[in-house]
Amino acid sequence: MPPQPLTVLGIETSCDETAAAVVRREADGGCAVLSSIVSSQVAAHAPYGGVVPEIAARAHVEAIDAIIAEAMRAAGVGFAALDGVAATAGPGLVGGVMVGLAAGKAIALATGKPLAAVNHLEGHAVSARLGARIDYPFLLLLVSGGHCQLLDVEGVGACRRLGSTMDDAAGEAFDKIAKAMGLPYPGGPALERLAEGGDAARFTLPRALLGREGCDFSFSGLKTAAARLAEGVTGEAERRDLAAAVQAAIARQLAERSERAMAVYRRAHEGRERRFVVAGGVAANGAVRAALQAVAEAQGFSFTAPPLAYCTDNAAMIALAGAERLALGLVDGLDAVARPRWPLDAAAALANPTHVPGRKGAKA
Ligand code: KG4
Ligand code: ZN
Repeated sequence: MPPQPLTVLGIETSCDETAAAVVRREADGGCAVLSSIVSSQVAAHAPYGGVVPEIAARAHVEAIDAIIAEAMRAAGVGFAALDGVAATAGPGLVGGVMVGLAAGKAIALATGKPLAAVNHLEGHAVSARLGARIDYPFLLLLVSGGHCQLLDVEGVGACRRLGSTMDDAAGEAFDKIAKAMGLPYPGGPALERLAEGGDAARFTLPRALLGREGCDFSFSGLKTAAARLAEGVTGEAERRDLAAAVQAAIARQLAERSERAMAVYRRAHEGRERRFVVAGGVAANGAVRAALQAVAEAQGFSFTAPPLAYCTDNAAMIALAGAERLALGLVDGLDAVARPRWPLDAAAALANPTHVPGRKGAKA
């Protein structure tokens, strides 16, 4: 049977955004976002300076039905017109993941539509495809609040990890340094605003893992140094300069490691078209995008970043990842479980855990 267009409802609740979206995936692999509703819990978590899991789970329960109804209304489709339901099944805060996954299962059961239990990271991996036509395979830098990885992406659900963070994710580094500078949560966007017009050269910050080969990241030294500098910085101009220096240091590390990964990718896939894609909340940062675009151009890779609305967590990317799975006939049962940990490249995560694996296995 020739491939058919698929209209899929996506649901995302793995962190602090309750989101639902309807996406139509065309038979030729293109797609159209029919609706994308994101309800942020930022205000509920702001007093605590970070996401509180119990507050997040409760807020998802309270919001999920209305957000799904709004996404369906905005898309102008009824449940009968759907070809499937996709919900994030992990990795993430498990209380929240359970809420969205249960909602997805309930709709799948009630309507008889197939369910796709989607890996949140796979959602980020396809997010750039929501705004531009990008074919597989591609080299992916995934930079969010919880993840910082370079992945060789062959296709849906098939990727090889080339590098990962040994401590904090890039977004986490933005958030923690911003907090040390007294900026509101979430810190990344606040730090970017403060850095506008700042002089990054005023402060010297440490460069991580100098002399070590490979594509792994580390931000803990930068975090400590920046927090120490922040204690002595008082004037507004000096604060702007420190923010600019931090942003430049993070952008530089991301660009340097991406450049190394491009060399690995080129060697592994001679003659293959070179595409470089960035995704995740940190991909919204202008300085980061500019630094990545520059290395991509220098290394002969095309460069694509998602539209800003699809950098941070959203359900359109979950709907598209689900549609791609359903198009391949990958359907999940109603017994699909919510997974707090779910690495994209499980073999690499187990063989070479850059995160301490913990009781339940590798985190990412
Ligand atoms: O992808 P995302 O919404 O959630 C995760 O899956 O983690 O990413 C959120 C992260 C936060 O750490 C936030 O501070 C960071 O992305 N972020 C930014 C910017 N916008 C969001 N970091 C730097 N500059 C930004 N403009
Ligand atoms: Zn995310």
